[in-house]
Amino acid sequence: MRTLIKNIKELVKVEYQPKLRAQGKEMSQMETIKGAYLLIEDGMIKAFGPMNEWDGTTDREVDATGRMVFPSFCDSHTHLVYANSREHEFVDKIRGLSYEEIAKRGGGILNSAKATAAATEDELYEMAQRRLEEVIRIGTGAIEIKSGYGLTTESELKLLRVIRRLKENSPLTIKSNFLGAHGIPMEYRGHQEDYVELVINEMIPRVATEGLADFIDVFCDQGFFTVEDTARILEAGIKYGMRPKIHANEMAVSGGVQVGVKYGAISVDHLEQMGDAEIECLKGTETMPTILPGCAFFLNLPLSPARKMIDSGLPVAMASDYNPGTAPSNNMQLILSMACIRYRLTPEEAFNATTLNTAYAMGVSNEVGTIAVGKKANFYITKPIPSYEYMPYSFGENKVERVFLNGVEV
Ligand code: NIG
Ligand code: FE
Repeated sequence: MRTLIKNIKELVKVEYQPKLRAQGKEMSQMETIKGAYLLIEDGMIKAFGPMNEWDGTTDREVDATGRMVFPSFCDSHTHLVYANSREHEFVDKIRGLSYEEIAKRGGGILNSAKATAAATEDELYEMAQRRLEEVIRIGTGAIEIKSGYGLTTESELKLLRVIRRLKENSPLTIKSNFLGAHGIPMEYRGHQEDYVELVINEMIPRVATEGLADFIDVFCDQGFFTVEDTARILEAGIKYGMRPKIHANEMAVSGGVQVGVKYGAISVDHLEQMGDAEIECLKGTETMPTILPGCAFFLNLPLSPARKMIDSGLPVAMASDYNPGTAPSNNMQLILSMACIRYRLTPEEAFNATTLNTAYAMGVSNEVGTIAVGKKANFYITKPIPSYEYMPYSFGENKVERVFLNGVEV
């Protein structure tokens, strides 16, 4: 099956020599072709170029006159399997309570864990499936999903089995992440080392036996898991073939970046609290610093020093953190806007941060994240728009009109 997208006003983020990530100055590079075609064969990108160079045969043609084509967003950090929304805590926060205070009194992650425990696997699957459909409609083509609202062995396995079913049934590229060390259950308060033992000795082996996780995650932060807890959990996960990808430096300069780098994390995420030592420590590593603008916006946190990181030669990725407690938005178009408006990334840098670099942060940048021959045909066609800079500029508007995943319109 060959599909031609023809008369594309501008085909954005084409790549002739695919690279796995963009760092420092490379982040401002973004090639486009004005007046282009894109040819898809058997779900993959087969060819692209200027429209006047096209002279082949196809089974289907789609006319994109006036419209632009972009590689789908890659969202490398979400918690989208959950049972309940948490708008009451949102109101508590408006009235002055902090995220940590809400967590201390048993709200926050524990609130979600309680509701998740009460829901069946099928119920969780139905809810997550609907959320994924929404995510697809607004332009995301690859997504990482974490467990972490279970906090008991059975509940964590239930969440991961839901993610496995989503992987089997969704056209999205999906990676799963085991986040048993997301919160400390009430009954372990005062002796959290026993919960860490449970994660290491019971949860990780069970998760591995069922082959349920690509990555292992820990919330390494003040009031949550310590650097020592994190090191032990990551070591155990690595033994079972799960690559680290962690929550670090959201509440405090926690040592999370350093421990993540030490264990070869594919990404360290959040990074609202970054000193020079953290930036230095990331240089020359394989670890993708990942910023979550939706969370900082929703919790009114300090902004991660994205500009400083890029200017010092680092790569930066930006993901949604879609979850009911700190970022109840699935919208990568909005993340793209925030990258420019709040973090002073140029549009080119912002596209790299939300496509190629987030693909890297979930280990799939050889398959998705740019328009390159041999990559999956995951892309969207916009409504008629004047330029690619319009994408981050017009924040809050849905600019996506048609979506193709694996070459098929969805
Ligand atoms: O990435 N920071 C830790 N975990 C999530 C929030 C989870 C929640 O509050 O439900 C995050 O922001
Ligand atoms: Fe998160």
